[in-house]
Amino acid sequence: MSLLISPSVLSCDFANIQRDVEMINNSAADWFHIDVMDGVFVPNISFGFPVLSAIKKHATKPMDVHLMIQDPDKYIVEFKEAGADILTVHYEACTHLHRTIQAIKAEGMKAGVAINPHTPVDLLQDVIADLDLVLIMSVNPGFGGQKFIKNAVLKVEQTKNLIHNKGSHALIEVDGGVNLETGMELVKAGADVLVAGSFVFGSKNPAGTIQDLKALK
Ligand code: DX5
Ligand code: ZN
Repeated sequence: MSLLISPSVLSCDFANIQRDVEMINNSAADWFHIDVMDGVFVPNISFGFPVLSAIKKHATKPMDVHLMIQDPDKYIVEFKEAGADILTVHYEACTHLHRTIQAIKAEGMKAGVAINPHTPVDLLQDVIADLDLVLIMSVNPGFGGQKFIKNAVLKVEQTKNLIHNKGSHALIEVDGGVNLETGMELVKAGADVLVAGSFVFGSKNPAGTIQDLKALK
């Protein structure tokens, strides 16, 4: 399978969101990475349903929605209605994670679980077979533009083994501090999907940067 690229719209120009969505539509990107933050689970607030719906109106690629919110269960239907195709919740934010995963799938979305830098991969062993995606955080969630935490590379390898041992079909996505250098290490370790925000939108030619990331594998 080729490497998938999911540019994070958190770093786009929100005054020109349609322009940036069209840029992603016309680029080599595979998904739209959408970061929802509640100011409780993470020390930042990003955006909610109206912005998701606005992106969905123009997006021609799947919406990969990363929820950094406490107790996401009560909003699963709303995220489906706002256009999420893949819905990822945090391991650390869900008391009844198994139930949450089933609820996401019952709405016809792909289900992902994200783990923070301090959370061991092993904790996913009893849900991995049900997952479509594991999101390994390579920064502490809440902000774009942070420094890559190298231990994420090891966690990709550990996740790859867990997926293999449990017969799971989950993809491995990595989020935070991804550039061509860290991206290459992650691809070698077995990452399937790379998220990139500031590296893409902070570059002179965002579509070209997406192409460069895509060419890592
Ligand atoms: C961080 C978010 C990321 C963020 C990545 O909490 O989950 O998706 O946009 O930004 P960069 O690529 O700049 O680290
Ligand atoms: Zn994210």
